Amino acid sequence: MTAAPLAAFLAELDALRADAAAAFAAVTDSSALEAARVEFVGARGGRLKAIQKLLGGLDVADKPAAGKHFNDAKTAIADLLAAAQARLAGATAADDGGGIDVTLPGDPVPRGHFHPLTQTVRRVQEIMGRLGFESVDGPEVEDQWHNFEALAIPAEHPARDPLDNFYLAVARGSDPLLLRSQTSTVQIRVMEQREPPLRIVSLGRVYRPDTADATHYPMFHQVEGLLVEPGTTMAHLKSVLRLFASSFLGGDVHVRFRPSFFPFTEPSVEVDMEWGGRWVEMGGAGMVDPAVLAAVGYDPDAVTGFAFGLGVERIAARRYGVADIRDFYRNDVRFLRQF
Ligand code: FA5
Repeated sequence: MTAAPLAAFLAELDALRADAAAAFAAVTDSSALEAARVEFVGARGGRLKAIQKLLGGLDVADKPAAGKHFNDAKTAIADLLAAAQARLAGATAADDGGGIDVTLPGDPVPRGHFHPLTQTVRRVQEIMGRLGFESVDGPEVEDQWHNFEALAIPAEHPARDPLDNFYLAVARGSDPLLLRSQTSTVQIRVMEQREPPLRIVSLGRVYRPDTADATHYPMFHQVEGLLVEPGTTMAHLKSVLRLFASSFLGGDVHVRFRPSFFPFTEPSVEVDMEWGGRWVEMGGAGMVDPAVLAAVGYDPDAVTGFAFGLGVERIAARRYGVADIRDFYRNDVRFLRQF
């Protein structure tokens, strides 16, 4: 068998290099570039591939030199291709820069919205505002007086158990501070500073070492309401809660009181709301206990009032049909986008 001469192989390789250089230099758009790429370096049927097959037919002694030339040509053609790609990319960028079509509609900027709990807080403030309740804030780090003592929760009361509260390592005097466990603290803070008549509502975060489940979270929000006016009765309390519930949930909402106990109200009730055929516990309420009125310096014989505290996550879950309040805190935008 006659081996193909080396000289012919090298000549063919040189011709391929020259053709590739001319072709890649001439392309002016991406489809022409792709056609040239397929012609010269296409994996099947490309001209480089065809020449590579000739390598096998060369004389054994010629193969090292032929192989080196082949590799050089291959590298050179790859460089030509890359240079042509870069040239076209640059031209495209320049074209775009010069040809902005200002009449095209812009890309819409995605708009966010408030978290459903923030929306709920604002809505409650707005509804209660219409009933004459001013919105006030209180601190989340509290002392024993405002979280317990002034609310008639004495030192030995189980509600003060370290296992049921987030006490801080920081103390005020001998009094360890804590993350407030309820917004009833704000009743005290407001009554200490103002004289009746009073109508306030306070919404904010509270903290309890509760295990998270569908209706509990260790950090949650409460809405506290307080009204102190002459002649206030449980009937006023029920009317205010019913008006609130109807405005917040929409439609006819029934409010049910169940006898209960809180140290700072007398009598005390649990507040349930019926909406869509189901009763759900929303919070606690009652007439402000005379001991609390005395603690803030009011005359318990001359002053009456009511107070209530509802769970914001619970009423939000009810309104939006959310089955698990933990969803409010997972920060999954697919969930949050729905509100
Ligand atoms: C209180 O916190 C009283 N301060 C309410 C009150 C205010 C009574 C004024 C009388 C006068 P309670 O511990 O039941 O009560 O909590 C009130 C509501 O907070 C509950 O009904 C529930 O809706 C909500 N809640 C309680 N614990 C959690 C929790 N771990 N996660 C989410 N919501 C909670």
